[in-house]
Amino acid sequence: MTHRMGAVILALAAGLGASAAAAQVNAGQDALFIKSLAATCANCHGTAGQAVAGSANVSLAGLDKNYLVTQMKAFKSGARPATVMHQLAKGYSDAQIDTMAAYFAAQKK
Ligand code: HEC
Repeated sequence: MTHRMGAVILALAAGLGASAAAAQVNAGQDALFIKSLAATCANCHGTAGQAVAGSANVSLAGLDKNYLVTQMKAFKSGARPATVMHQLAKGYSDAQIDTMAAYFAAQKK
């Protein structure tokens, strides 16, 4: 192998390493973003969707993703009457609801 080729390969390898590190940072930021979205439900539904024992509010942890998405959309449209959720649901985009539903579905009951 010539000296020059070696340098090119080294430069390529360094580039790959940098993009892998960037991907890791992005994954960390995504996880943080998802947790902070879900945290907006924690006041009533508990940390990570686990409602406090004896609470009147339901746990969202382990809830079927499709069920959660359907209920949020029903609250949003007014199809499902509610005391608070119809107002809250309007503050989230469909993409955010989808992201939260996947997060809660993956939590232990
Ligand atoms: C201020 C308290 C409060 C907050 C914050 C809150 N909820 Fe609720 N949630 C309720 C109440 C109360 C109900 C029962 C329906 C109603 O009367 O609004 C409910 C019901 C639900 C239901 C229906 C559960 C079932 O068994 O059918 C879902 C799904 C839900 N909430 C999801 C969420 C999500 C997702 C968030 C965060 C974006 C959230 N809630 C934030 C109070 C809250």
